[in-house]
Amino acid sequence: MAWVDVTCAPMQIHTTIVAFRQSLAVERAAGRTVGVVPTMGFLHAGHMSLIEQAARDCDAVVVTVFVNPLQFAPGEDLSAYPRDPEGDAAKAAATGATMLFAPAADEMYPEPVLTTVSVAGVSGTMEGAARPTHFSGVATVVAKLFSIVGQSRAYFGEKDFQQLAVVRAMARDLSIPVEVVGCPIVREPDGLALSSRNVYLTPEGRRAAPVLRRALAAGSELIVGGVTDADEIRRSMAAVVRLEPEADLDYVEVADPLTLTPLTVCDSSARLLIAARFGRARLIDNISAGQR
Ligand code: PAJ
Repeated sequence: MAWVDVTCAPMQIHTTIVAFRQSLAVERAAGRTVGVVPTMGFLHAGHMSLIEQAARDCDAVVVTVFVNPLQFAPGEDLSAYPRDPEGDAAKAAATGATMLFAPAADEMYPEPVLTTVSVAGVSGTMEGAARPTHFSGVATVVAKLFSIVGQSRAYFGEKDFQQLAVVRAMARDLSIPVEVVGCPIVREPDGLALSSRNVYLTPEGRRAAPVLRRALAAGSELIVGGVTDADEIRRSMAAVVRLEPEADLDYVEVADPLTLTPLTVCDSSARLLIAARFGRARLIDNISAGQR
């Protein structure tokens, strides 16, 4: 076990499941509540907002850092995924984490992996259609993290809105004693949602990427103005993205906020979601239809 001491807040760092569990048992024995923030590292202000929320709500705050091979398909960016272990430890400690769990792949997945978790329905559309094995990789690693951590509150960003729905369904269906808490999206001043994958953007792509937020705003403006035809909203959002030559639209969707089923008729409770490529960066974003 290692310790990082930043601003007088000592943080334990664990790489093995056994030692991590032992430390959590000590916290529980002392009557301390546990908050967990699962991440793939390369922490930015979006991740840090989740850690801060966990620190407001819970006594012990665990950040997990694990680039989960199961949620990357062959040919995706697993080997290129940005990593910064020292920076992550410093940021987690400075933001209020009391424990960091950063296992190696063979600690998490003894070979061969025979058990996986898939969530039907909510995993099928949008990101699930574009990346067919992605959500079962996410559900499997999160189920495993929840099983290791035990009773706790777990903090997830609305940035990955469909992932949040998948995780909520998984925890509910498997009766895992973890309360899943959704947290708002942190954005750059020009509207681009923070993401570890923003490092893949070229300068031109970076200039173009806020078009996603503008397209979502255009859709929500129509809904707030009384338009209820979801196809009309989809067409309007797609038209905004098509005006940006750097953007290659993957999907726009107007969906039920809980089931993520595509809607025909919508109101301000709907969720608007979008994905597009900017060169080799594939970015996603979403807002509530009642938001501008
Ligand atoms: P990662 O992409 O590192 O994101 C970790 C958490 O940070 C997720 O809950 C994500 O929604 C949240 N997050 C990312 N950008 C955010 C932003 N701009 N504002 C608010 N929250 C933001 O999502 C994953 O890792 C993985 O799939 C994981 C759940 C850890 C499973 O491997």
